[in-house]
Amino acid sequence: MIKVINVVGARPNFMKVAPIVEAMKRREREFTPLVVHTGQHYDAAMSDTFFSDLDLPQPDVYLGVGSASHAAQTAAVMERFEPVLIGEKPDWVLVVGDVNSTLACALVCVKLGVKVAHVEAGLRSRDRTMPEEINRLLTDQIADLLFTPSADANENLLAEGIPVERIRLVGNVMIDSLYKHLERSRQSRIKDALDLNDKRYAVLTLHRPSNVDNPLTFGRILDALKKISELRPIVFPVHPRTRKTITQHGFDERVAQIEGLRLIDPLGYLDFLSLYSGASLVLTDSGGIQEETSVLGIPCLTLRENTERPITVTMGTNMIVGTDTEKIVNAAVAALAETAKPAIDIPLWDGKTADRILDALEHNDEAGASPPS
Ligand code: UD1
Repeated sequence: MIKVINVVGARPNFMKVAPIVEAMKRREREFTPLVVHTGQHYDAAMSDTFFSDLDLPQPDVYLGVGSASHAAQTAAVMERFEPVLIGEKPDWVLVVGDVNSTLACALVCVKLGVKVAHVEAGLRSRDRTMPEEINRLLTDQIADLLFTPSADANENLLAEGIPVERIRLVGNVMIDSLYKHLERSRQSRIKDALDLNDKRYAVLTLHRPSNVDNPLTFGRILDALKKISELRPIVFPVHPRTRKTITQHGFDERVAQIEGLRLIDPLGYLDFLSLYSGASLVLTDSGGIQEETSVLGIPCLTLRENTERPITVTMGTNMIVGTDTEKIVNAAVAALAETAKPAIDIPLWDGKTADRILDALEHNDEAGASPPS
């Protein structure tokens, strides 16, 4: 029996951990899963909704760290996670993604000699001003097993000198959640509530500090949105960080004046899936949404200068457009003129990644990793 602590902290973690915990519960003779929620995200709309939408069991332990500076938040997770680890004595700890909770818990594990596996390892934007890039680099250096979503991630890890024995190419576990819930998301009434017709609207998400904390960059993006919204209404579920910065920058009126831009509260997993799967265009600075839109064949414009998920550009529907007003508008006009793209098959993004992760945990003493392509 393998006892595993599965760590969740922030919104993008829940859809990665849910299929893993579900598979562990299904394989109850082999696995005993526990869920530890650090509380990095705590609002109902950023956390609770995802537990019910994704059938994720309530956390066994809630650390309640909340928001703070990076140092304070990371330190609080470490201090509160350590006694849990000492008390529970798991065989493995599983951390996912690239948020502060991911690095904090991985660090506690290695200091106590508890084995830790990183799901979504090896992604690199090569932009060290991104807090997530630092979290990825450091977590991958210290984790015992690295589960990668795509061959480019294997190559990144090998180039950083990580031994091949620690790497397993398993695919994208977030896509397990996408496939599982796509059908159910069609019952969502969000599009009716917003009076939207399929393929006649765009969806926007924006929360990266580099975009929303900087008024000049945010202003350039708003100028682009004004023009695009004349072609298609844009629905914008607003992240709490962004809600605050709009007011801090004095942008409330400027945003309100963009007639076709509709600000709404953050959505749960099923409502958001229903919303973006019906859109003709998605504009985002999120990482996960680049992957989800690629799988569904929905054009995605990434409002960043780089991506840690290049396969969504080479094989998917993603375009890296940056934050220049004209470039964003031109790319949106071109994307809206294109005919619909078919859903895309990326190798191992097949809804079966969670089971491959469990198989690897069971057989981790067997030598060999997936060779980079
Ligand atoms: C975090 C992750 C980021 C991820 C994002 C998804 C890090 C470094 N960043 O960024 O990788 O893409 O989550 O959402 O871990 N807030 C609330 N309610 C909440 C959570 C946050 O109001 O439930 C507000 C607080 O004012 C907080 C701010 O949002 O200060 C930022 O939250 P934080 O967890 O620090 O970072 P995110 O921007 O959410």
